[in-house]
Amino acid sequence: MRRYARITGTGSYLPPRRLTNNDLAAELAQHGIETSDEWIVERTGIRARHFAAPDVSSSDLALEASQKAIEAAGIGAQDIDLIIVATSTPDMVFPSTAAILQHKLGITNGCPAFDVQAVCSGFVYAMTVADSMIQTGAAKRALVVGSEVFSRILDFNDRTTCVLFGDGAGAVILEASEEPGILSAELHADGSHVGILCVPGNVSGGKVLGDPLLKMDGQAVFKLAVSVLDKAARAALEKAGLTDADIDWLIPHQANIRIMQSTARKLKLSMDKVVVTVDQHGNTSAASIPLALDHGVRSGQVQKGQTVLLEGVGGGFTWGAVLLKM
Ligand code: ACO
Repeated sequence: MRRYARITGTGSYLPPRRLTNNDLAAELAQHGIETSDEWIVERTGIRARHFAAPDVSSSDLALEASQKAIEAAGIGAQDIDLIIVATSTPDMVFPSTAAILQHKLGITNGCPAFDVQAVCSGFVYAMTVADSMIQTGAAKRALVVGSEVFSRILDFNDRTTCVLFGDGAGAVILEASEEPGILSAELHADGSHVGILCVPGNVSGGKVLGDPLLKMDGQAVFKLAVSVLDKAARAALEKAGLTDADIDWLIPHQANIRIMQSTARKLKLSMDKVVVTVDQHGNTSAASIPLALDHGVRSGQVQKGQTVLLEGVGGGFTWGAVLLKM
């Protein structure tokens, strides 16, 4: 009998400081940067985002989201035997945010804990790794988290990027089960596109080298995202022997409502089958999918037994899809 990895609990957390487009526009105006609610809503669908306080790190957001997921799964933290955190804004160069999270959760069982770096595809990558480890018997009960403080790497002098992103975390508990859970997964990367979306800095000799703020060629990212997401979705469906008609919910990376609308159109899905949180969260990179999933579950939209397609795309260029039964 096949051993599946099934989601048994979800959780998410947004830092309390919420900025509407008008709030952000007012702050940027103080530095001579001009933007407007109208421009941001029309091009992206974003209306608000949350920013973490300066002393709050990815592991702090991850902790809040994880505690909710653990509670929803009805388990104890010590029952977790694998922790994977997807993040591009880790607490430190090392150790991993996952190891820091393990300690903050009070887990003392020595379970493996590591980060996955695939930018906005990070959660889909992390779910796929956890699924593989559960299928092989290497893990029984995994905590998979996407957590970001993207506000730390934004260039607030660049209005083409700083209006797009926000901070937050989402988490799931994935448990070994005979009942269907993750049905198929599809991961890809193409490193030839490194330059279209990157934070081109690093730490060397005690100094930051390069420019450690986000750079993006928005139009190039848009075109690539739209073309690869459809292919990944179809490949994941084909592997599971399903078609687009079998999808109850599409939960894509929440970058831009226009990318999401285009993906839904190609899959012949109406927008009322798409969980949308980009309007309230902005783009929270690796956290966006688990944040949207938790929103879908807690709002009663996404229900047990339904077929859900998660789709990620981001810097690298990376992309992928995970098809699952809730
Ligand atoms: N406020 C007001 N005006 C702006 C702003 C802003 N915040 N940003 C740019 N503009 C202006 C530009 O200066 C330009 O003015 P000009 O015509 O006078 O030169 C005009 O708006 C159009 O700029 P474009 O960059 O061509 O705008 P575009 O329609 O391409 O929209 C956007 C930009 C929203 C970034 C779009 O390219 C996009 O959605 N790309 C997808 C990328 C994305 O979603 N990335 C998220 C991260 S990647 C990921 O998560 C996968």
